[in-house]
Amino acid sequence: MPKVTTKQIWEMKVKGEKIVALTAYEYLFAKLLDEAGVDLILVGDSLGMVFAGYESTVRVTMEQMLYHTRIVASAVERALVVGDMPFMSFQVSPEEALRNAGRFLQEAGAQAVKVEGGEEVAEQVRRMVQAGIPVLGHLGLTPQSVYQFGGYGVRAKERKEAEKLLHDAQVLQEAGAFAVVLEKIPAGLARRVTESLRIPTIGIGAGPFCDGQILVTQDMLGLFERFRPKFVRRYAELGKLAREALAGYVEDVREGRFPSEEESFV
Ligand code: KIV
Repeated sequence: MPKVTTKQIWEMKVKGEKIVALTAYEYLFAKLLDEAGVDLILVGDSLGMVFAGYESTVRVTMEQMLYHTRIVASAVERALVVGDMPFMSFQVSPEEALRNAGRFLQEAGAQAVKVEGGEEVAEQVRRMVQAGIPVLGHLGLTPQSVYQFGGYGVRAKERKEAEKLLHDAQVLQEAGAFAVVLEKIPAGLARRVTESLRIPTIGIGAGPFCDGQILVTQDMLGLFERFRPKFVRRYAELGKLAREALAGYVEDVREGRFPSEEESFV
């Protein structure tokens, strides 16, 4: 099956086709997402919270990201696989960023990387793109900066921050990013960014006017229940289903109802 390319992602904006994106951290979900026709699968550093149970994404390391990206990339046939560059893997210097980005493609099999930030990471983005590494930008709520922001609230509600975000989006485009994630910003601002860019925007909590949408898979399936952002639509309640199934198993084993004769060998 032909792989989705960054060029196709860009062409989808031109044709007015919505880009469908979700996150995956492991084989089973990566396969399910790919079979469902998702265009872009992000191995997000949200795995720190969703998979590892950390308080934030800040503790996620390159080794964790490479491990999960390798697994996802090996499961996916069609979707574009993007590896998320973790905190401190790209901020220190453009050289270090380039080396780490290269590992996502060379060692883990991703087709692109994502970095959080605007003008401050433009040189890193430029160097990666020059080296042949496609880059997805990420603006608005950038969870790696949670300790600086002081929380996970809506970003860029004030004019000054909104203008900076518009500027950062242009800078990322000029640096060669193939698309940009807009997280938790007002819908009107996301529309302005989307209309001002040639490259696509992929929204999460950024309203309906983006060129595509992304959610954390475990959020939209009702598996991650620690908190529930307003922008998440739950398409299933798998956490509830799993709890019911597990309670059934516990009870059946305790009461001697499992295994039955049909589930046993003679
Ligand atoms: O880490 C992640 O999963 C992300 C998406 C929510 C965009 O950055």
